[in-house]
Amino acid sequence: GAPLVVVVGSVNLDVVTELDHLPRAGQTLIARSVRRNVGGKGANQAVAAQISCGAVSFIGRVGDDADGRTLVAELDRRGVATDLVAVVTDEPSGAAYIAVADGQNTIVVAAGANSVWGAFSDDERSAIEAAPVVVCQLEIPDAVIAAASERSTGRFVLNAAPARPVPESVLGRCDPVVVNENELADLTGLSVDDPDSALAAARELRTRGAISVVATLGAAGSIWVDADGHGRQPSPRVEVLDSTGAGDQFVGALAARLATGDELAAAVRWATAAASISVQGIGTLASYPDADSIAGVVAGLPGPSAG
Ligand code: RIB
Ligand code: NA
Repeated sequence: GAPLVVVVGSVNLDVVTELDHLPRAGQTLIARSVRRNVGGKGANQAVAAQISCGAVSFIGRVGDDADGRTLVAELDRRGVATDLVAVVTDEPSGAAYIAVADGQNTIVVAAGANSVWGAFSDDERSAIEAAPVVVCQLEIPDAVIAAASERSTGRFVLNAAPARPVPESVLGRCDPVVVNENELADLTGLSVDDPDSALAAARELRTRGAISVVATLGAAGSIWVDADGHGRQPSPRVEVLDSTGAGDQFVGALAARLATGDELAAAVRWATAAASISVQGIGTLASYPDADSIAGVVAGLPGPSAG
């Protein structure tokens, strides 16, 4: 059927090393293990959305190389429609070099093909216009994000990651803009260290034009603000093994639920549960739970509160 969610974003080959501790400047470390997986915030969010709603199309760019073919095949295998992934010749497929140690990570991205976009094709334009929800992140050029936000006729969801300034015209279409506490602090210049300061910063983003704002606060759960009010969704207490891509899990799950008709509060609840599961497993996509597991955690979550 027609896609419920169209993700316009990045796809990378993730090279993930597991270490005893993160490297210091100038240090050479021997990894405990290395894995190569499909990644990129766009692709991760597409897979997460696919798990929660089953009708996702990904619009992205790969190089004319073996990595690009592997990435597309992996997305296909996970049920994401890839007919709008274009192969570009000027750059290799995107890659991300990820080090994970003790539940913490560092990521270095070589954007490659993710930086090579012309105007959208007719098919891409039609898909964006027809989608109930369009999702972007900040790993592709601003012009592409702006064009996607202008074309979208449903809800436009922006994950403002990795942190950098968001053009005002784009912010004005975000319903919601989704950020973690660091991104929220960077975007607003305010300090964010608890749910109250996050709420104040989220309100500031609404003042600057965002239609709604969702912020993830790690162990403190999530908060949201929209025209109707605000709320806080606590997270279950869990042990964090590897949080790489948990933000993408959150955004994809949120977008999927918004596309199937959830109110923002219910979608935040679902996404908070999904992310709380994925941080407990090593890996990005490898730790994304199925919809039944998410539903199980949602059932046990404390309800949202108004503060
Ligand atoms: O958010 C995690 C993702 O960021 C990784 O998959 C990596 O590719 C980078 O884009
Ligand atoms: Na994980």
